[in-house]
Amino acid sequence: MEGDWSPLSVIRDIVDEGMQEDPFYVMDLGEVVERYQNWKDLMPRVEPFYAVKCNDDKLLVRTLASLGAGFDCASKAEIQLVMDMGIKPERIIFANPAKMASHIRYATARGVTTMTFDSETELHKIKQCSPDAQLVIRIRCDAADAQCPLGIKFGCEPLTEAPRLLKLAAVLKLNVVGVSFHVGSGAGESLVYARGIKMARVLFDLGETLGLKDMRLLDIGGGFAGNSNSDLREVSQVINAAIETNFGGRDVRVIAEPGRYFAAAAYTLAAMIHASRELSTGTDEGHTMYFINDGVYGSFNCVLYDHQTVAAEPLEPSSTRPTTCSIWGPSCDGLDCVIGSCQLPPQHTGSWLVFRDMGAYTLPVASPFNGFPVPRVRALVDKRLWAVLKDMWPLNEATFILEGRPTGPQTPEDSLTPSERSATPSPTPDTHHTIFVECALK
Ligand SMILES: Cc1ncc(COP(=O)(O)O)c(C=O)c1O
Repeated sequence: MEGDWSPLSVIRDIVDEGMQEDPFYVMDLGEVVERYQNWKDLMPRVEPFYAVKCNDDKLLVRTLASLGAGFDCASKAEIQLVMDMGIKPERIIFANPAKMASHIRYATARGVTTMTFDSETELHKIKQCSPDAQLVIRIRCDAADAQCPLGIKFGCEPLTEAPRLLKLAAVLKLNVVGVSFHVGSGAGESLVYARGIKMARVLFDLGETLGLKDMRLLDIGGGFAGNSNSDLREVSQVINAAIETNFGGRDVRVIAEPGRYFAAAAYTLAAMIHASRELSTGTDEGHTMYFINDGVYGSFNCVLYDHQTVAAEPLEPSSTRPTTCSIWGPSCDGLDCVIGSCQLPPQHTGSWLVFRDMGAYTLPVASPFNGFPVPRVRALVDKRLWAVLKDMWPLNEATFILEGRPTGPQTPEDSLTPSERSATPSPTPDTHHTIFVECALK
């Protein structure tokens, strides 16, 4: 992209072409780069290992890889996806405390040996499938409130179970290298990280007394907010202070597994209203049901699984008084309700609604149920940023299709002779110039 643009202006450009009927995302690569930079500035000691489960869009994963991030993979397929992009195994943690034996064997064969555990059976399984693995014990440490609590499923009790498991690991001559926790996804409390880091320090000390001499990895998990209006500052201060207090001066590597922090704000969804129905409420105030072309079986699965509340914004601003309405997905299921009640200026069939912060736990879960397609992603990058990114491994122009055609030598202009090329008019420099870039890897 060149000139002044925003995800909304690009959505408008696409819609104005008049050819678009299916829902689509615009993904702003600049948002990912900015967030990575912000993370590095605020928590220089904490290496982000992006949680691939959050959104496995290859362009997002590649961008983070090119910036230097590591990766949290939860399965064989996620490891494969990341490694097939050329990521070295040292940059991956297999952060699933309940793994399938075949997945452990696959990871080990590909050199991914850092993995988490929280139970006796997992220790015995790892002893069989990957006896030289570098193990990270996952303890439970729950935020006071979280969008998706995880402690109910994973993480051993730090004071009772963890010491027993560390002893068992020592007896089995397994190599425990560190401690991890996950405070819950979309955590609403910052101080929880201080509690987790403090508990980890206690277990590092216990490990030493048990003869576990290689403990040097602290993994503070995910839980970081990802919406456009969220701020990493407060939580980063808590984390930096707790690391300094408990691990200052010690040779301990600190990593985290952020998912939604990198993915949420970069993706904006556009969906079209294709039908509506007026309900008589028996009052002066009516209620309009709007039906859009994406629903809870598609992107809005996040309403069900990720406990997300989403906000609809009309693409075209209007000064007409908002009225009460609800927004429904396209399927024939009554469960397919995106927003039960909200206020919007009256919309008509063919109007588009925009949903911001839709990049986390949406696309990888979406299904084409009832024959409604999962939205495609159109990636955007500012020309100045592109100039930097395209020179960074592993992104290069061969990765992309530009305006529906591969770039580089394949573009028609490149097949022209120099004199033919100079005769071809170039776009007027001051016009708003949009280039749609799509990931050729899809
Ligand atoms: C082990 C693990 N790490 C990291 C994440 C990512 O968490 P978030 O998206 O809250 O940063 C999750 C999410 O479920 C997880 O299970």
